[in-house]
Amino acid sequence: MRVLSGIQPTGRFHWGNYFGAIRQYLDLQEGNEAYYFIANLHALTTIRDRQLLSDLTHDAALDLLALGLDPNRAVLYAQSDVPEVSELCWLLMTVTPMGLLERCVSYKDKKAKGLPADAGLFTYPVLMSADILAYDADLVPVGEDQLQHIEVCRDLAGSFNHRFGEVFVMPKGKVLQQSAKVPGTDGEKMSKSYDNTIALFEDAKKQRKQIMRITTDSRPMEEPKEPEGDVLFDLYQLMATDAEREEMAALYRRGGFGYGEVKKALADVAERYFAEPRARREELAAQPDRIQEILADGASQARKKASEVLRRAQEACGVKTRWRVEG
Ligand code: ADP
Ligand code: TRP
Repeated sequence: MRVLSGIQPTGRFHWGNYFGAIRQYLDLQEGNEAYYFIANLHALTTIRDRQLLSDLTHDAALDLLALGLDPNRAVLYAQSDVPEVSELCWLLMTVTPMGLLERCVSYKDKKAKGLPADAGLFTYPVLMSADILAYDADLVPVGEDQLQHIEVCRDLAGSFNHRFGEVFVMPKGKVLQQSAKVPGTDGEKMSKSYDNTIALFEDAKKQRKQIMRITTDSRPMEEPKEPEGDVLFDLYQLMATDAEREEMAALYRRGGFGYGEVKKALADVAERYFAEPRARREELAAQPDRIQEILADGASQARKKASEVLRRAQEACGVKTRWRVEG
């Protein structure tokens, strides 16, 4: 099965991104043909700082590799390195009803808030469709908020195929595990939009400080507490061993402990859990050329597949010229 997903480089990856998405992408490398890309063209709809976008794109690749993305098993590339996708995007645009895009939440929300929206944001789901269809992807693991875009993609593939013949493979969305909704330092869902994140590769000392600042309730120490649903416990169990989790749950139920203790234990398990990726990241960060090489190699594999699909689509709709144009 061909699995494909994109991740936007709009900020440093945090625990929510890892447990909610990245870890699941890494698991899917096993036994599948996986394509993962850094969606820098999509990120351009929000980041308009040249240096920042370029740094975040590089760092996203570095982080994914450090976390275990294996370039020998999965194809890793930057979205903008595959121009065939943008060309395919245009072909799809010609079969996209305006109404379909007008109903898409990201655009609708912005408009409802009275914020200026550009054509990039409006046509964002079409580019996403091209990202998927260009590789004949079968399965697209995404967060629930992206499911609507997968439906758009299936719609567009269907109407293109209906008009021009069986060009595109119909992809399926796969919702990433909901159980992994990771809480942030204020107890709300961890998200860079809420400024409550703990970055995966934060400096260890700074990370400890962030953990010590996680909001807790003011119930007395002696009171027994239900572990499930408590921010600290929910985070702790993501990284603790089964035995540690049971022990901590028992401590909560018994009462007579301070949240400070739990925070310290959380910082310890987090440090242990990410020790290896952290070391790998340091090693890789010292070889920026290696990252560039991996991305270039990934892009060349991705282009091979995408150009085959683009040609198929161009031929089907009559824009594949018979004369050769030298570049
Ligand atoms: P953010 O909310 O910080 O902007 P993104 O929307 O870029 O994060 O998320 C990228 C991926 O990480 C998505 O697939 C999303 O489902 C997942 N993700 C982000 N935050 C969390 C969280 N707190 N819990 C679970 N998954 C998350
Ligand atoms: N829009 C996705 C997000 O914000 C990222 C993305 C872009 C993507 N293109 C994709 C995901 C294609 C899956 C398939 O999370």
